[in-house]
Amino acid sequence: MNTLLTPYAKGPLTLKNHLVMAPMTRSRAVGNLPNALMVEYYSQRSGAGLIITEGTAPAPEGLGYPRIPGIFTREQVSRWHSVTDAVHAGGSRIVVQLMHTGRIGHYDNLPEGAQLIGASGIKAGGRIFTDKSGMQEHSTPTALTSDGVAAVIEGFVQAARNGVAAGFDGIELHGASGYLIEQFLHPHVNTRTDEYGGSIEGRARLAIRLAKDIADAIGREKVGIRFSPYSQLGDLQPYADQEVHETYTYLAAQLEKIGIAWLHIAANVPVPQKTFDGIRSAFSGTIILCGRLTPATAEAALHAGFADLVAFGRSFLSNPDLDKRIAANAPLNEPDLTTFYTPGAKGYTDYPTL
Ligand SMILES: Cc1cc2nc3c(=O)[nH]c(=O)nc-3n(C[C@H](O)[C@H](O)[C@H](O)COP(=O)(O)O)c2cc1C
Repeated sequence: MNTLLTPYAKGPLTLKNHLVMAPMTRSRAVGNLPNALMVEYYSQRSGAGLIITEGTAPAPEGLGYPRIPGIFTREQVSRWHSVTDAVHAGGSRIVVQLMHTGRIGHYDNLPEGAQLIGASGIKAGGRIFTDKSGMQEHSTPTALTSDGVAAVIEGFVQAARNGVAAGFDGIELHGASGYLIEQFLHPHVNTRTDEYGGSIEGRARLAIRLAKDIADAIGREKVGIRFSPYSQLGDLQPYADQEVHETYTYLAAQLEKIGIAWLHIAANVPVPQKTFDGIRSAFSGTIILCGRLTPATAEAALHAGFADLVAFGRSFLSNPDLDKRIAANAPLNEPDLTTFYTPGAKGYTDYPTL
């Protein structure tokens, strides 16, 4: 019995199967605009019950990488509508992932006049690609003032409204992988002394306020958030396991009170069972699990008590017909790392179907 490919219904979420396409930045959005190539890419993958788009900037300051899309201008909204129409025609649902890159970025990638911002003014180690001058050290972020935090929240809420206007079935807040929301959650990168820093409650305040304000604006049934507990992506150094555990169980409990539709856990490093259990017992909505799943381990995860849905990243990237391949127990194409972020159709829309 293959649960993976059977319909899913829980609360407001009804999907044709349990298969989720994980959010993946693909850097094809030249000029930060969705385009016809992206329409083709997403519609090819509409065998998924749910598609979560690539990280999409809610504001110009969130465009830390080259060629990532935004959803803050009229033109971006109308171009995203072509994507949502094509995916809906394929019988899938699609939500936009709102990704504010925060301190992960470089001034060469930002539009004129936009400032690289962070929870605090702590520069990320490591380097980032720019179209202008290749690999560069990250730029140093400017710490957000209290008014700056309010403006970020306002930008996210408007972007969520824009998502609905563009035909998306909802929005996912990117609270994972070391971008702005996780920069606030993390005690080494957030050294603020206002209400958005300090204790677990303070550091979690931005994530919770965003979820609450967006739920009020577009409906809690259309809101989800992604986290990556224990991850070190984005130059985040480990902190005490117990504090990580408490941070994410606290978040799950607060998000349960708001009543958002889903939590999405990117397990890109091993997550202790205790943390999975703590999140599951605090949150009654849909939980999506992602990270190095195969069709077999994904199927097993759907019966293990934590995950309601399972998300595939790289396997969906390289297998547009992943649902059909799983159904046929067919081999999967391998992803080509060299074309993950390069412009154009190669390694994007040209992966073969069965
Ligand atoms: C090319 C690429 C781009 C990614 N971009 C994003 C992103 O924009 N937002 C996000 O939350 N995760 C992003 N991820 C992480 C994936 O969503 C997923 O968590 C990761 O690939 C692990 O799942 P997998 O083993 O099924 O590939 C990206 C992964 C890849 C391979």
